[in-house]
Amino acid sequence: MQDEIRNIRNEFVALVSDVESPEELEELRVSYLGRSGKLTSLIKKIKDAPAHERASLGQLINETKQSIEAQIIEAAAKLSDEKVGFDPTIPGVKPPMGHTHLVSQAIAEISEIFSRIGFVRVRYPEVDWDWYAFEALNFEPDHPARDNWETFWVDAKAHPKYGPMVLTPHTSSGQVREMTRTKPPIRMVNIAKCYRRQSDVSHTPMFHQFEGLVIDKNISITHLKGTLDYFAKTYFGKDRVTRLRPYNFPFTEPSFEVDISCDICGGTGCKLCKGGWLEIGGAGMVHPNVLKNGGISPEEYTGFAFGWGVERVLMMKSGLKIDDLRTLYSTDLRFLYQF
Ligand code: PHE
Repeated sequence: MQDEIRNIRNEFVALVSDVESPEELEELRVSYLGRSGKLTSLIKKIKDAPAHERASLGQLINETKQSIEAQIIEAAAKLSDEKVGFDPTIPGVKPPMGHTHLVSQAIAEISEIFSRIGFVRVRYPEVDWDWYAFEALNFEPDHPARDNWETFWVDAKAHPKYGPMVLTPHTSSGQVREMTRTKPPIRMVNIAKCYRRQSDVSHTPMFHQFEGLVIDKNISITHLKGTLDYFAKTYFGKDRVTRLRPYNFPFTEPSFEVDISCDICGGTGCKLCKGGWLEIGGAGMVHPNVLKNGGISPEEYTGFAFGWGVERVLMMKSGLKIDDLRTLYSTDLRFLYQF
């Protein structure tokens, strides 16, 4: 059926260029887009196609229809120019314009919010050594996050010092890289792609995180809390607050899970949030071993870090009722044009 759709499109391109009068153009239009036109009959046939092909066939037909419609408008404009001469007062045909993907929009907004309080956006490899992704972050050799289930290991020769290669499973891999790149005070935000072997309604194998890292003298939990509250209020709205819940990460001590107050119920508890709070991501005070691995003295410096999912905050902010996160990366233009 795909070939059939493409043939119809090509055939139309050939025919429309020969049209000599508005009447002929109208006839051509009806024979493709009219009630029993060629394209219309194909639309009716979609339901007979195998289920897994229907969405892409629908999309192809839609694109073909839009292209035919645009060509008709163009041909009509040309015919009327020929009749009355060129009329510069007729409004032009507006070309369809694309825009940045909504995840890119969220990344731009997040990095702008952190830049206002002095965070510098950095970028580190998205394929990196085990050392940066795990070992330097104080992971025990048998920590479950290292196993094959979560991490994509790259089939490449291991580095004699830094170990095997991985697709970065979190942006925390940028922490030790940043410590070795520059000296404190450090205020970085690392926004990058992350990869984990998960694919279901709330996970895509590729997703994005933003990681904050602050290292200086006398940095305490209050700075962490203040920064998270600042972000929550700026990104989600001035009435939102965060809370820290004890948790465990190998690379922070103490570690927290961060919750944000629910704006549906205002914190009293509802179906969405269970108890007034929504879970948003991890955070904590940088573990002394991690500072040491980054060449920074834990006697002299302390720091905090947090790492949250871009897709997650985006969905929470916009109230997008997407029942399958994979839609974000489906490249379905009907979905994307809405934003
Ligand atoms: N890297 C952690 C994750 O992927 C999040 C985190 C970042 C936690 C920084 C603490 C500090 O879940």
